[in-house]
Amino acid sequence: MNNKVTKAIFPVAGLGTRFLPATKSIPKEIMTLVDRPLIQYAIDEAREAGITDFIFVTARGKSALEDYFDSAPELEKSLKAKGKTGLLEELRHTDMESGAIAYIRQREARGLGHAVWCARRLVAPNEPFAVLLPDDVIAGRVGCLKQMVDAYQEVGGNMVATMEVAPEQISNYGVIDPSGSNGRLVTAKGMVEKPSAKDAPSNLAVIGRYILRHEVFDALKEQKTGAGGEVQLTDAICAQIGKSTPVSGYRFEGNRFDCGSKAGYLQATVAFGLARAELHGEFRSYLESITHLPRAAE
Ligand code: G1P
Repeated sequence: MNNKVTKAIFPVAGLGTRFLPATKSIPKEIMTLVDRPLIQYAIDEAREAGITDFIFVTARGKSALEDYFDSAPELEKSLKAKGKTGLLEELRHTDMESGAIAYIRQREARGLGHAVWCARRLVAPNEPFAVLLPDDVIAGRVGCLKQMVDAYQEVGGNMVATMEVAPEQISNYGVIDPSGSNGRLVTAKGMVEKPSAKDAPSNLAVIGRYILRHEVFDALKEQKTGAGGEVQLTDAICAQIGKSTPVSGYRFEGNRFDCGSKAGYLQATVAFGLARAELHGEFRSYLESITHLPRAAE
């Protein structure tokens, strides 16, 4: 069984309605934490985990994403002429060698499972692949996907990132029905997408990092709709349990920010701002000063 993970799918076709009106003209994945777009954090995490082939499932109105990973010769020339080597170095992070990145269009918004299925022809039958949801930004000493890839070498199967969430939050997530655990690994005997709090089998939420086997496309092919009337990735993964591919949850080490919600995005902005050496002093003293003022920005 081939357990080497070098390919990743990034579903980036979502409309980003929670961030309207900004997302009327910019893809939500281009929204920035400090000075880097959300997608850059996901790409860096994937690279750290050994990913070399990047598949973006996009949609109409997402061309800014394609431009972001293209070369920018005029900009580079002008930075070079001005001797701005630091900025040039920053730009290097956005470089993608020709052929490393593929764009597939999802023609209709039919859910995460459908978006992943759109990339089926770019994944070989014996090849495991990762899926990263760029809304979930995870800060950690070692990237979340790298942690998972390392664990995956031992256990294989399908693997999802997981963390405990508060009971009142659980209905926003895919949820694991656990049958046992071993260190950071949790064995799943079932999974359910967005259950009500009272029906949730546990408080272990699926977070947007997955390592999956090709068999998941067999279930996705059926295009069965689930929660919210959408084709759910969680359901397709769950369908493999007891059939072909065991599923484990991986309790990653690190802090996860839900940048698909305004509160989570603001929290991430503060956390990543404080983590930057050049902002630390000024930003921290500002935050300390406004925590005493009830409405600093009004
Ligand atoms: C998606 C998945 C869900 C997962 C969540 C993590 O939901 O469908 O299983 O728990 O991402 O962020 P969404 O947030 O797109 O509704």
